[in-house]
Amino acid sequence: MSSAQIYDTIGATYTVTRRTEPRIAARIWAALGDARTVVNVGAGTGSYEPPDRDVIAVEPSALMRAQRPAGAAPCVAAAAEELPFDDQSFDAAMAFSTVHHWQDPIAGLREMRRVARRMVVFTFDASDTGWRRFWLTRDYLPQVATLLVGWPSLPELARAIGARIEPVLIPWDCADGFFEAYWRRPEAYLDDHVRRGCSVWARVGPNAEQRAVRSLREDLASGRWAKRNRDLIALDAAELGLRLLIA
Ligand SMILES: C[S@@+](CC[C@H](N)C(=O)[O-])C[C@H]1O[C@@H](n2cnc3c(N)ncnc32)[C@H](O)[C@@H]1O
Repeated sequence: MSSAQIYDTIGATYTVTRRTEPRIAARIWAALGDARTVVNVGAGTGSYEPPDRDVIAVEPSALMRAQRPAGAAPCVAAAAEELPFDDQSFDAAMAFSTVHHWQDPIAGLREMRRVARRMVVFTFDASDTGWRRFWLTRDYLPQVATLLVGWPSLPELARAIGARIEPVLIPWDCADGFFEAYWRRPEAYLDDHVRRGCSVWARVGPNAEQRAVRSLREDLASGRWAKRNRDLIALDAAELGLRLLIA
């Protein structure tokens, strides 16, 4: 199933947990610099679209497009790998939490570079070190590693657009319920709505999901999770491999 198809299936409850995280939005909007015109690729419901610029959204999933709020930027049905725009037609191109869904991430990033002068991409370090940083994948959902086989490395993604890489620490009370958002609120992952807001769970399949949830529930009840992760409790923000690529 392609990613756009996945979102046509799991996207129905996206807005229950997925929304703008203002501290991360501020980083993205600052990185857009003085860009007046912005294309937001893999835009979904538009959580990170800057309100003070001319934005065009690009989103292949009809279900996601249908959930864009009234007054949101106009949205074109297309995919990153083939953007229906002329060369250099935007000041900036942005992509938030979407590159890992693209059939061909390098081709999509090159398309962003073709249509815009500046680029801001929020993604993650898919290397072994990257996914092992997070207790949820390391201790409960190691199947994630199989999803990442063949995935371009962060340096490869950055090289495709000549970007610099900046770490993004995730605040403990992150408002946007992406996969890593609840790192200090582990009970959240027991909630179906939280899991349905992230495609990772659909991708690993129901068996791995149920095993992970059962095991996490047991470890929370027994105190094992707290013992293993006692260092996290004192942190206000965590380094979980999330990155901004800025070019
Ligand atoms: C996790 S959502 C992120 C949506 C939005 N950027 C946000 O931050 O809320 C990933 C989005 O990427 C879209 N997507 C999947 N394949 C894509 C592709 N090839 N090109 C562009 N977008 C794609 C999905 O349909 C989905 O809306």
